[in-house]
Amino acid sequence: MEYVIVDGRILERATAKVDIEDRGYQFGDGVYEVIRVYNGKMFTGKEHLNRLVESAEKIRMQLPYSPEQLEEKMEELIAKNELETGTVYMQFTRGTSPRNHVFPGADIAPTFVAYTRKVPRPEESMEKGVRAILDEDIRWLRCDIKSLNLLGNLLSKQKAAEAGCFEAILHRGEKVTEGSHSNISIIKDGVILTHPADNFILNGITRQKVLEICRNEQIPLEERAFTLDELSAADEVFSSGTTVEVMPVVEVDGKPVGNGEPGAVTRKLQALFKAEIERRCGKL
Ligand SMILES: Cc1ncc(COP(=O)(O)O)c(C=O)c1O
Repeated sequence: MEYVIVDGRILERATAKVDIEDRGYQFGDGVYEVIRVYNGKMFTGKEHLNRLVESAEKIRMQLPYSPEQLEEKMEELIAKNELETGTVYMQFTRGTSPRNHVFPGADIAPTFVAYTRKVPRPEESMEKGVRAILDEDIRWLRCDIKSLNLLGNLLSKQKAAEAGCFEAILHRGEKVTEGSHSNISIIKDGVILTHPADNFILNGITRQKVLEICRNEQIPLEERAFTLDELSAADEVFSSGTTVEVMPVVEVDGKPVGNGEPGAVTRKLQALFKAEIERRCGKL
């Protein structure tokens, strides 16, 4: 039996329903989070739940639960579904009310939905690396909000999938922003470069953890936008995200990155990231 949460209550999936006038369904008017689960424990759960609250505040939505209450609910759902390795997805929309661009009144409560999914660690891809395409970043100017509106991301990811690639690396003109569903970093002469956490990217929790690891390990890094030329001259490229951890990118638009194999710095970051998971969630 699979269980989900709808409006704070755990239900059997088959009985869970959301109204057709839910604003998430009609406008994508809501925010979401995806948290990794290893050995039945959430990895960086607090960081994700704090970002969820921040995303909600940025769209002027008040969540009916504190991050602590949400953490408890997610733990309950993970236990109920006996999830070991996977993800927990949650979203809040601005509730159900007759379709109108103007926000509903304060009497309309947000709709809260959550479910879990079994997702193995993508060990083979992490070992061999993945391929990416380039695509113009056509998204709006508040990519820092983890909003349900993902059409720009979907169009780019679909293009990548049709080219047999894992990711689309997005750029605004000459400047690389991030991936369609991950953050992108490059390594040149031992220095890690990644776009700063501003309105042009989602400040990934994985990105933040990787940067923290770099600071602790004295691996040089620069948070600045890099160009397409810098990307194509990079020694190493990696994508980072909740489900993919630190993923080497070995080819961009049909051109090998470095010698076409995952590089030494990326390998080191993968190992350090795995150690951090094990420190928090137990042996993988
Ligand atoms: C556009 C985008 N950027 C970056 C990320 C990585 O964020 P995180 O590490 O928090 O999963 C994601 C993850 O879903 C994403 O969709």
